[in-house]
Amino acid sequence: MSDTQSWEEKYRKCNEEYEKAVLYLKKAVMVQKQNFTGMVALLSDMLSMVNKELGSHVKSVAEYAKSLSFLLKLEKDQRELVYYASLLHDIGLLSAPKDVYAYNPLSDSPPPEGYLGHPGAGENLIKSIPTLARVAAVVRSHHEHWDGTGFPDKLEGGAIPLEARIIAVANTFDWLTRFGHMSPRESLAAIKEHSETMFDPVVAEAFYGLMDQRLKEQETGIKKVSVSELRVGYILNDDLLLSNGMLLFPSGTYLNHEAIERIKKFHDQLAVASHIRVHQ
Ligand SMILES: [Fe+2]
Repeated sequence: MSDTQSWEEKYRKCNEEYEKAVLYLKKAVMVQKQNFTGMVALLSDMLSMVNKELGSHVKSVAEYAKSLSFLLKLEKDQRELVYYASLLHDIGLLSAPKDVYAYNPLSDSPPPEGYLGHPGAGENLIKSIPTLARVAAVVRSHHEHWDGTGFPDKLEGGAIPLEARIIAVANTFDWLTRFGHMSPRESLAAIKEHSETMFDPVVAEAFYGLMDQRLKEQETGIKKVSVSELRVGYILNDDLLLSNGMLLFPSGTYLNHEAIERIKKFHDQLAVASHIRVHQ
């Protein structure tokens, strides 16, 4: 009997030790993750402070790349890597002359000073922080081309990290539109045109679908607003259904005060979606 008790006691203690070890490991992982995201945030904020426009560029690229990561069904770890590498991808441009932004990466003219070296410069800066080693590797490859004509390593096809192939597409689109080289429609057409030469065709196709839809919505004045943002004069773009499937208002309904109050009432009862597509 006492042997049994002793065994049970040993088991209980062992279990306690195990639970403590798991807790310790979980805390260690959390601290490491906080260090990682803290470092990325610090570098990203620094980039925005030094160059506001470049800061806006990398944030836009990160948002496009995040949407692409979901569309391409990447795992959570990979999506995070894409996002954080996007935020830092052009950090190597901080030391380049300002005229670098006038360069069109689709043109045949030679790139300005500092342009060819910026992926490597970014990688060197980032990899000085050991927890960011994976981010540094992606940053190095964001100007590689699917056909092997990119830089700095002339990697080809699947040898280019997928995260970098995603950033390449998002980066080119935002660069062309933000720095005045092309309209959004022209930039999107350029992404399609350079699929299989500059860009991974699967990534380029996914981006085309994503942005084509967004641009159509912008071109037709359609926007997605929260219920609290509804204003008199908006017109419903789609049928507005209640959660039980019943039609509250058909598409094309002009929103007056009464209609908005009605939608708000159902929203308070969690009976309509929190965001609604409208146009004016
Ligand atoms: Fe770049």
